[in-house]
Formats: sequence, C-alpha cells, structure tokens
Amino acid sequence: PAWIGRDARLAGRHIIVTAGPTHEPIDPVRYIANRSSGKQGYAIAGALAARGARVTLVSGPVTLPTPPGVDRVDVETARQMASEVGRALPADAAVMVAAVADWRVEPAAGKIKKRPDGKPPTLGLSENPDILAELSRDPRRPALVVGFAAETENVVDNAVAKRTRKGSDWIVANDVSGDVMGGAENRVHLVTADGVEDWPQGSKLAVAERLAERIADALGAIQ
Ligand code: CTP
Ligand code: CA
Repeated sequence: PAWIGRDARLAGRHIIVTAGPTHEPIDPVRYIANRSSGKQGYAIAGALAARGARVTLVSGPVTLPTPPGVDRVDVETARQMASEVGRALPADAAVMVAAVADWRVEPAAGKIKKRPDGKPPTLGLSENPDILAELSRDPRRPALVVGFAAETENVVDNAVAKRTRKGSDWIVANDVSGDVMGGAENRVHLVTADGVEDWPQGSKLAVAERLAERIADALGAIQ
C-alpha cells in the first residue's frame, strides 16, 4: 500500500531493531567489517514506527537518514551493539538485521606501519558476542525474536539450522548470492517453527512492509 496507517496491534509496543555493519578497529585508521548498507534494517525500523510501534534502532555506521519516529542509537563495534541492545530492554520484539562482524581484533594503540621487509602484520582475531543468540537466551527475552541470515548457498537449510542454533523464533533467510548487497531488491524466505515461507522477490521496502505486518500479527496474538 502507498500509505500505511497506525496499527492497534503495534501501538505501545517497543521493538528493538539492529541494522548496518559493525566496525572492529585494527588500529586508529583501519577496521574490519561486514558489507552492509543498512537499507533493509532501516526500512524495517521505519515500517514498524509508521505503524505506531516505539522503535529503538541500534545502528552500526551507515549513511542513511533516521526514519521518522525512530529512536536511533549509534554504535561502532559488536560489543557496543550488544550492550546497547541490553540497555534498550525490555521490548516486545527484537529484529536483528545487523551484519555483525564475527571477529574483532585487539586494536593497536598507534597506526601499524608497513615493514621494510614486506612482511604483513598478523591480526589475532577473537570471536564477538552473538547478540541474537544471547538475547534469545536472556531472562528478559522479548516475546518475539527475529534474526536474519545472509547466505550464498543452501539458503533455506542453513537458515533452518540457524534458527535452532540461535534460539530465535523466526529467521529471515536472505539470498545474497546475487547483487543484494547494497541494492534495493531482496529475496527472502521466512523460517518459523511452522515451516518455511518463500516470499516473492521485492524491494527492501516491500520486504519490510510484509515483515512489519507479520510482526503485528504475531504481537496482536500475544494478549
Ligand atoms: N548476529 C548477532 N551477533 C553476531 C553475529 C550475528 O546478533 N555476533 C545476528 C545477525 O544480526 C543475524 C543473525 O545473527 O540476525 C545471523 O547472522 P549470521 O552472520 O548469518 O550468522 P552467524 O551465526 O554469524 O553464522 P555465519 O557463520 O554464517 O556467519
Ligand atoms: Ca556471521
């Protein structure tokens, strides 16, 4: 629809959305990161706010405007994102769209210089906290926890396994084998306890509208 009205099923509900990449510093001038424009997460945050939900958007570094009505908290690293998600609780739902860096580096205090012998530095990586998995196990867990899974192959099988492993209610499986990254279009499958729904290819905005409708259905069914 061209215009979305407020939805009684979302009024007064608090929903946390994570979006964008995280940046993990290597030294003061370098970082490692996942590829993420933030478009899909921002569209979801905007669609939920347009329907009347109170939305806290915990965002990694992106170049997008804050959608109207959304409370935005900016973070850089995965650990900052984890702590801001915790600070935003309690919530009725959480939608984790962020492309969180799986690993971080113990950052050097000063800029790492190239060596005259041409030997590259070794980066020691540590695994970042899994924000989605930790939230799913948290005593203050929102009633509805939704994760995303960006996959290039075995999209649905990987997403079904990820839903179980992470303990989320739903996983939105995202086929990123084409030119989804940074683009406007998306092709997703919704994995729930009831099975797998193949959604038609559509714009990231259309995927956001459809997911917001489904979240309204789900929260509407909870008292
Ligand atoms: N996620 C998260 N914290 C992390 C890593 C991922 O909250 N440290 C969330 C993402 O926001 C997404 C979901 O978990 O909602 C799946 O992310 P994905 O990278 O597909 O899953 P991983 O468990 O990291 O598995 P993979 O080895 O495929 O990267
Ligand atoms: Ca990952």
